Amino acid sequence: MKLFSGSQSKELTLKISKQLGVDISPMEIFVFADGEKRVKLNEKVLGEDCVIVCSTGIPTDVNYMELFFILDALKRSGAKSITLVAPYLGYSRQDHIFREGEEVSLLVIIKILETLGIDKIVSLDFHSIKIPEFFKTSVIHLSALELFAKEIGKMENYVLVSPDMGGIRRIKLLSEILGNIPFATIEKDRDLDTAEISASKLNGNVKGKVAVIVDDILSTGNTQARAAEILLENGAVKVYSFTTHPVFAGKVNEVLQNSKIDKVFVTDTIQVPGEKVFPKLEIISVADLICKALRE
Ligand code: R5P
Repeated sequence: MKLFSGSQSKELTLKISKQLGVDISPMEIFVFADGEKRVKLNEKVLGEDCVIVCSTGIPTDVNYMELFFILDALKRSGAKSITLVAPYLGYSRQDHIFREGEEVSLLVIIKILETLGIDKIVSLDFHSIKIPEFFKTSVIHLSALELFAKEIGKMENYVLVSPDMGGIRRIKLLSEILGNIPFATIEKDRDLDTAEISASKLNGNVKGKVAVIVDDILSTGNTQARAAEILLENGAVKVYSFTTHPVFAGKVNEVLQNSKIDKVFVTDTIQVPGEKVFPKLEIISVADLICKALRE
């Protein structure tokens, strides 16, 4: 097996490389003065099974272009098979038409990835359970919920919370893993034109309990910061949050550090840049899960 890493997944690929005992194959990514990129594989891949680990968080489009070029280089150089490990698949939230006249960004991305010849995709906690069905190639859909359950299981007197209605399936699943722990949900309305959160309402009882928010994506942090306020207003004694993908847009570090959340757990599906790390943040690695899937 030949293992390659996209620019945004270097730390995670290094962990995977150590666990699998496979070196990361060298590759040159040159950026021209105008920002265009050029990729060159510095190792022969003819007849090899190749794995490319490449997340597509911010800057999403830049990371996608790099990924497209790496896939093209692998194909042109005669790779026998290409497994794309995309721990976070950018545009996952744009998986359907929200307003008449819109495109479906995720379907465009999938078309390109499949045209470029991926044989398999390994990813984690897609935004919706429908997403694997959009692919013609095989999909290994992993989840960080098991990792979260290990941490959350150490807590006492807690209630799980989905910060929006879209997360209900996820929260039910986690509740089952933990032995049917009670859960609450927040009804969040987002303005479809501005993406601003317009209203939020709690369903369920959190009084006197430690509230544990669970979500797939942390972007601006506004959803969870607002959820924490609602939970405390409704009698929760402490708030923790567990999120798979730290997309971390804008001033998310300030929003979360200044929020009422006591500790923010995320995974390393996206590498958190140094300037966005904050004292309340804790990172759990998904390397084990990915290695297990690659070994099977
Ligand atoms: C929405 O459906 C997602 O599950 C997340 O709740 C959302 O993407 C979080 O966004 P933000 O951190 O910007 O509020």
